[in-house]
Amino acid sequence: MKILVTGGAGFIGSHTCVALLEAGYDIVVLDNLCNAKPAALERIRQITGKDFPFYQADILDRAGVGQAFREHDIGAVIHFAGLKAVGESVKNPLLYYHNNVAGTVAFCQIMAEAGCKKIVFSSSATVYGPTNPIPYREEFPTSATNPYGYTKLMVEQILSDLYRADNEWSVSLLRYFNPIGAHESGLIGEDPNGIPNNLLPYICQVAVGKLEKLHVYGNDYDTVDGTGVRDYVHVCDLAEGHLQALEYVLGHTGVDAVNLGTGKGCSVLEVVAAYERASGRRIPYVIDPRRPGDLGEYYADASKAQRVFGWKAKRGLDEMCRDSWNFTKKNPAGL
Ligand code: NAD
Ligand code: WQD
Repeated sequence: MKILVTGGAGFIGSHTCVALLEAGYDIVVLDNLCNAKPAALERIRQITGKDFPFYQADILDRAGVGQAFREHDIGAVIHFAGLKAVGESVKNPLLYYHNNVAGTVAFCQIMAEAGCKKIVFSSSATVYGPTNPIPYREEFPTSATNPYGYTKLMVEQILSDLYRADNEWSVSLLRYFNPIGAHESGLIGEDPNGIPNNLLPYICQVAVGKLEKLHVYGNDYDTVDGTGVRDYVHVCDLAEGHLQALEYVLGHTGVDAVNLGTGKGCSVLEVVAAYERASGRRIPYVIDPRRPGDLGEYYADASKAQRVFGWKAKRGLDEMCRDSWNFTKKNPAGL
């Protein structure tokens, strides 16, 4: 029995592949490499000393996905493949609905045909929308403010409906908060194309002198120091969360949404200070106006993951920044 990892060459996928291989699972990776490089796959092999089959295919490509299912006995899927840039989704919603929603539907049709009904899905804290109180709990109402967020909501709905129609399905909807950090080897990490949209990758590029200074989006929020507060979670903790979720779906049927976060919020300036400590470099910044669509503060109630999976994030902000800097320093031009 093998685990098929879609999007396994990407940031969270590559770290999860390492965790799966180290835990003794056989994996098959499927990725169209639209936002990842083949080097990531080599690095996974280098870290683990293990090999695995790779299919360069799109989740929308019936022939490519079908081939992976025909050639391997797939017991469960961890489904990371998707586009994730909020701003791009506003400009090009059809691309996002096609890739993330139609892609997942097409992919699940092939899963069903192959009789594989166990899936761990990459959802996001974005499904809590703008009006819930913090910390976010899984039973809160969900909503979205941009097409990317709607794709996550829609796929949560589709996978929930699948279970309602056929109780043999087992679905884990993992709502990630803000994944950062890198594998401690410094061989894999986050490697965005172009100018990063997210805080940590931006800070990394300032630290190596590729960007001049950080733009802090607002210091007038009702938070500890006025800057935005998020629940940053180490990508290796997240990878371990996927192992726990996988074991859960392998042993149960049903559908469950589960937060993967630390339960603790950190402000932009706290992240900057931690990164400066970790790297020994100054991160110059200016205060800019708020970024449209941003919320002031949110973080997870992380108790359900502990209750259901026995998972709890172990690594703190200093380790996240240390590992992120280690990856950046070793790969200043990316992978
Ligand atoms: P990533 O872009 O690094 O990884 C996604 C991978 O999927 C990439 O390797 C890309 O090439 C591949 N891919 C995209 N569309 C595909 C398609 N149609 N067919 C095959 N492969 C395809 O992103 P990530 O940060 O690792 O995120 C993984 C998942 O987690 C995504 O679904 C994302 O929406 C979700 N998520 C990410 C974050 C975050 O902040 N990184 C937060 C919440 C949820
Ligand atoms: C974090 C904080 C910014 C960049 C996004 C998606 C979300 C999820 C995770 C996928 C905020 C501030 C940022 C910068 C800054 N992705 N910031 N200067 O917006 O919390 O979440 O990624 O599901 O859906 O929206 O993450 O890293 O962009 O921002 O001051 O250059 O850093 O205002 O307070 P965000 P982020």
